[in-house]
Amino acid sequence: PSTVSLAVIPGDGIGPEVTAEAVKVLQAVTAGGPVRFDLTEYRLGAEHWLATGETLPEETLEALKGHDAILFGAVGAAPGDKSMPSGLIERELLLKLRFSFDHFVNLRPSRLYPGVASPLANPGTIDFIVVREGTEGPYTGNGGVLRAGTPQEIATEVSLNTAHGVERVVRDAFRRANDRPRKKLTLVHKHNVLVNAGQLWKRTVEAVAAEFPEVTHDYLHVDAATIFMVTDPARFDVIVTDNLFGDIITDLAAAVTGGIGLAASGNLNMDGTFPSMFEPVHGSAPDIAGQQKADPSAAILSAALMLRHLGLEKEAARVEQAVEADVAARTGEPRTTAAIGNAITAAVS
Ligand code: NAD
Ligand code: IPM
Ligand code: MN
Repeated sequence: PSTVSLAVIPGDGIGPEVTAEAVKVLQAVTAGGPVRFDLTEYRLGAEHWLATGETLPEETLEALKGHDAILFGAVGAAPGDKSMPSGLIERELLLKLRFSFDHFVNLRPSRLYPGVASPLANPGTIDFIVVREGTEGPYTGNGGVLRAGTPQEIATEVSLNTAHGVERVVRDAFRRANDRPRKKLTLVHKHNVLVNAGQLWKRTVEAVAAEFPEVTHDYLHVDAATIFMVTDPARFDVIVTDNLFGDIITDLAAAVTGGIGLAASGNLNMDGTFPSMFEPVHGSAPDIAGQQKADPSAAILSAALMLRHLGLEKEAARVEQAVEADVAARTGEPRTTAAIGNAITAAVS
């Protein structure tokens, strides 16, 4: 059998709890199949920083580059935890990986599974994907502080948008729309206020649209998009948007489709130059960490996205069907993280 060399970064909080279940499912669904997964675990995250002072050493980044894919749990200290500067590990580990490995497509699918309760009274059929740009926008650390700590303090974060960066993610989103039955793409931005970047995104969508005559496209300002995500989420098919808007609307999308515990993501390097990285949309959830209360479904569905990205469509579909059946059968009785993981593992075995 061929071998996939997989790096696993469980991280902090519920990260290790949900990742353990995703690994069980992955091993069960690939057992006896044509491809075996060879796992290497990396201890990184806020805990590791507290113990060692390391976020992501250069040699670890090099080692990670040698893997075929990365499965990531979650990192981060509890908000208000004074032992660590806010966002240090998020920027120096998570964002550093997304940037270093050129994860320009942050793919975040949203589906309301049958039997799952949405907080919306009339959710309709929710089945869309958000193609969130992953390497630019206000995430790049451009900006700074002048006259810090004075009443004249000036703080800026500059949103970086390049023609190359926008075009490649927009084209990827059009391709995905073209492969879906409804063939519809919505650009979400705020070009009434963010004129410079907004015009670049708008022009790029119009130009790339010419390559995909079967795909219809429309536009929503991000504030209006949040209205429709609540009042009429069924209207969406493929959304393409920048890094920050994509972050915000995908938490909302998770909430309307039954919760953050079900929301999966893939940070994709579509060129195949670097390993892609798969992780739940959620964070380390310090409020429930260590209690076996976290839903591992998001981590398990992220492993399914990885299987599909690696060309293992059959295995990906089996995992997705098992999660779908598991969530449909839920009664509301609380189950531990491991109980959910074991049930899904049994279903794919
Ligand atoms: P969070 O996603 O960790 O938690 C938000 C809420 O959702 C909490 O009430 C939590 O209990 C709940 N929740 C999250 N995952 C769940 C699951 N699988 N099952 C059930 N409930 C779940 O977001 P936050 O509280 O804003 O952030 C906590 C820490 O995580 C911060 O340090 C933040 O920077 C970090 N963070 C990391 C990532 C990542 O590693 N990819 C993503 C988001 C936030
Ligand atoms: C996410 C997270 C990250 C982001 C943070 C932790 C840097 O919220 O993956 O959605 O903003 O991208
Ligand atoms: Mn987020």
